[in-house]
Amino acid sequence: MKHLLSASDLNYNSAIRVLDTARELSLVTDRPVKKLPTLRGRTVVNLFFEDSTRTRISFEAAAKRLSADVINFSAKGSSLSKGESLKDTALTLQAMGADAVVIRHGSSGAPHRLASAGWIDGSIINAGDGTHEHPTQALLDAYTLRDHLNGGVGDLAGKRIVIVGDVLHSRVARSNVILLATLGAQVTVVAPPTLVPVGIETWPCKVSYDLDAELDGADAVMMLRVQGERMIHSYFPTTREYSRRYGLNRQRFERISESGIVMHPGPMNRGMEITADVADAERSVIVDQVTNGVTVRMAVLYLLLGGFPDDSVDSAVESDQ
Ligand code: CP
Repeated sequence: MKHLLSASDLNYNSAIRVLDTARELSLVTDRPVKKLPTLRGRTVVNLFFEDSTRTRISFEAAAKRLSADVINFSAKGSSLSKGESLKDTALTLQAMGADAVVIRHGSSGAPHRLASAGWIDGSIINAGDGTHEHPTQALLDAYTLRDHLNGGVGDLAGKRIVIVGDVLHSRVARSNVILLATLGAQVTVVAPPTLVPVGIETWPCKVSYDLDAELDGADAVMMLRVQGERMIHSYFPTTREYSRRYGLNRQRFERISESGIVMHPGPMNRGMEITADVADAERSVIVDQVTNGVTVRMAVLYLLLGGFPDDSVDSAVESDQ
């Protein structure tokens, strides 16, 4: 596998491979010196056309912990403001010898264009394209779920995961449904009818419009951000009405499984899709998701640039000890 564009690029074995590799690499993040020489001499470009905090910083940390050279490119302050095209930007990165390009773009399909056009020889990693996909978010979510619900090993067979909120605008929801189904989880998507995308019946999940009907005994509830900046129409009467019907509050939180966890990809609208007390509750793993983002992205870079080799990552970790 050369690129990671969609969660559907990962079959069961390759998804488990990424999660197991991330688990091995997490040993590095517990060390005083959090570095491996694995990608020394390789160049990773972070190409961000849309704002990001977690994804951009964690890809940078991941590449640096593997000793890669990192070039950070953001649309603001670049020649894009002078009208430069994606093609010419890509050719510039190719001329600089990019081995991997991590791209976030407001247009769905931009990473696929970059991968198929042949402008860049290196690996393309989708860091979020429009309302389409965010595969490394799904991987770090699966890692977090496996860590908390399954002792950090195996798959998610039989686990009941409820994904709630603005599914229409969510690349996180689509990638999670695909990957969680690949790993054997039972996924239910809950949203107001206005925030359900056309074609959701083809997704490998159950769809519900009633949050209260889906919470009892759930192993995890993943809340989605209401993406006001992408909304071109009015999708619900008021934010108060949205919170009343689809927000996760303490009362609802207490109905999930006793060992169940609360997730959110961030950034959160505290007080809208999730109350502050639930976001900060003991079984909220939102901060863990961010931490796990670094090791999962290390694993993705390691495996893509190494060509998903058969030899274990153990050897890379051990040889540096
Ligand atoms: N979850 C996520 O993609 O967050 P950022 O937009 O901050 O990268």
